[in-house]
Amino acid sequence: MRTPLVLGLETSCDETGVGVARGHTVLLSNVLASQERLHRDFGGVVPEIAARAHLEHLVPVVHRALEDAGVELREIDAVAVTAGPGLAGALVVGVAAAKALAVALEKPVVAVNHLEGHIFSVFLEYPEFSPPAVALIVSGGHTLLIHIEEMGKYRILGATVDDAVGEAFDKVARLLGFGFPGGPLIDRASKEGDPQRLRLPRPMRGEGFDFSMAGLKTAVINALQELHDRGARIRRHDVAAAFQEAAVDVMVEKTVAAAREEAAERVLVCGGVAANSRLRDRMEKVCKAEGIELFVPSPKLCTDNGAMIAAAGAFRLEVDGPSPLDFRADSGLLWPFEALVAPTDC
Ligand code: KG4
Ligand code: ZN
Repeated sequence: MRTPLVLGLETSCDETGVGVARGHTVLLSNVLASQERLHRDFGGVVPEIAARAHLEHLVPVVHRALEDAGVELREIDAVAVTAGPGLAGALVVGVAAAKALAVALEKPVVAVNHLEGHIFSVFLEYPEFSPPAVALIVSGGHTLLIHIEEMGKYRILGATVDDAVGEAFDKVARLLGFGFPGGPLIDRASKEGDPQRLRLPRPMRGEGFDFSMAGLKTAVINALQELHDRGARIRRHDVAAAFQEAAVDVMVEKTVAAAREEAAERVLVCGGVAANSRLRDRMEKVCKAEGIELFVPSPKLCTDNGAMIAAAGAFRLEVDGPSPLDFRADSGLLWPFEALVAPTDC
């Protein structure tokens, strides 16, 4: 059988993403309709607004993704869709659309776990990537350190005990008045900030592979209060840089420690926060020094997108076959991860 041409739909949070991939390694198109503008005034993603916007964007985005890929809808071999985890109402829009398309085309539909989608983004840029490897998945809703034992088989090494890393970036950005979404704004502001101006802790440093990002966010609040009480002033760019440096320190140290413990020769960093320029730089330097091969997809593939869902869908289709037509969107989907912590946001 020829390598399937898969259409991937992603609607788990605030990005309507549609991509086309040939198998799990060949990227043909990746189109995104961002809802940033719609949620900005609220300082975060509003689930009802997200679901409605997906409904409006999905059909035109599917058309553009097919056009960019240079393929006709009838040439598609399967429709893959994020089944979870994510915002329930937002997921339902993608799942219903994927099922409708699959039925109309008389082609299989494939349910994909969003986090497995993030992992599969690596193959679209590095087709040569292969397990075993340690992966750090850092997004707005999840922070996970896992060991990829073989294709599609994962063992969880650590997770956040409270907020996800991206969530902490977004909350600290809001606190500092940078706006939404906070991650890219903190990243940019930090380039003009001095991280040494504020001392912040590195929560759970040296304590296994779990993370506490709410602890770091609270430390920022306390430090700002203390400065205020002393009548001292600090530029918000310096606070952003200090926060980012602390978060990056923890991510880098735990990932490298996990790679050492697992004797992993490869490390993958993926998910929205993997777009962070400081994290990318630091990971690169440390992995080079440790003799670890580092894989970090380009920022456009790190943040939510449909192409990664198409890639993961192609893989799942090959190993598990089509999903039953009655599968449901599941905001807390665990499969195929053995013991995921519940999602905090999207
Ligand atoms: O994977 P993603 O696009 O969506 C979820 O699955 O949640 O991740 C979104 C998260 C947001 O919290 C966003 O602020 C963060 O990724 N993010 C960043 C950067 N770009 C996006 N965080 C730090 N630095 C960035 N450059
Ligand atoms: Zn994501």
